[in-house]
Amino acid sequence: MRHIIDLSDLTEQEFSDLYKLTSNIIDRPEGYADACRGKVLGSLFYEPSTRTNLSFSTAMMRLGGSVIGFSDPGSSSAAKGETLKDTISMVSSYADMIVMRNPREGAAKAASMYSSVPVINAGDGGHLHPTQTLTDMVTILRLRGTAENMKIGLCGDLKYGRTVHSLLHFLERYRGVQLYLIAPDALGLPDYMLRFLKEHNMPFCQADSVEQVLPELDVLYMTRIQRERFADAQEYEKLEGSYRLTADKLRRAKKDMLVLHPLPRVDEIAQDVDDDPRAVYFKQARYGMFGRMALLLTLSKLPFERAGRQAIGAHGIKCANHKCITRTEPYLPLTGRVGERCPYCDAPLELLL
Ligand code: NCD
Repeated sequence: MRHIIDLSDLTEQEFSDLYKLTSNIIDRPEGYADACRGKVLGSLFYEPSTRTNLSFSTAMMRLGGSVIGFSDPGSSSAAKGETLKDTISMVSSYADMIVMRNPREGAAKAASMYSSVPVINAGDGGHLHPTQTLTDMVTILRLRGTAENMKIGLCGDLKYGRTVHSLLHFLERYRGVQLYLIAPDALGLPDYMLRFLKEHNMPFCQADSVEQVLPELDVLYMTRIQRERFADAQEYEKLEGSYRLTADKLRRAKKDMLVLHPLPRVDEIAQDVDDDPRAVYFKQARYGMFGRMALLLTLSKLPFERAGRQAIGAHGIKCANHKCITRTEPYLPLTGRVGERCPYCDAPLELLL
């Protein structure tokens, strides 16, 4: 375990150890107050964040460590035109671990290639968000014991919702999971994620309203529309308010269903749902902090080996995704053939014309 680009980077054993440590911290947090004393976390947030940023900072402080970094790229050298590579090389010589959120897809993978300390992906565009998946899994495991044989509904922006993508990758490990993908047409899962579900024989069905499938579900994972990822504001406006969970609708759900949400919520969950014992999203946020404590503690103890860069590969290809980190950081080595997946963001590679 070196860098955490996606939670699936952990083996089953590593995840099981991490979950056990998280549980121990939840049960006895005071026992860990000095566990990272003297360690420094570099926290680089190139995109707005409340939960993840505060959660990581609090996690490090509760372990007795300290935090450096920025939460507004405007106040960093990125605003002066510094490359990601230079920022990471520099910060990794100050800090013992780096947590980074960046709007470009594949940015965490790119950063990991130039870092001399572990890099944790705190969200790379609409691509992945592994520590949210850790948060989600800790919640399901603490409250229900397992995710096996569960019927899990994912509702909302499945296109740009990186938390959904990382969660689906991870759920592949649990037997008998059935997925219900609930989204308006324009917000359905990207092709590479649909391919992932098919390649891994993960049963799924698609629905365009939560009412259709609600009585079936053991977990309902709600997400907001990722407004900031829309190139066209009118496209967003067309979809705004197109789905909403209310206390009235919840009456048809199982008595022990869990309602999860990575937060922030906009209007997709009505306020009247908050008092329902099935609504566990605030508890989920708290579990996330403990999961991050366990992750930071684990990484701080591991011997670290620099990952090394991939060889500079064939010329004549580019990533088809205009939000890919390779489009703005042109020094990044890109290998592969046309039609294969981009090593940074998973989109297909295409001919460079
Ligand atoms: C999520 C994210 O940033 O992707 N938030 C979070 O980390 N808690 C979900 C979101 O912003 O909608």
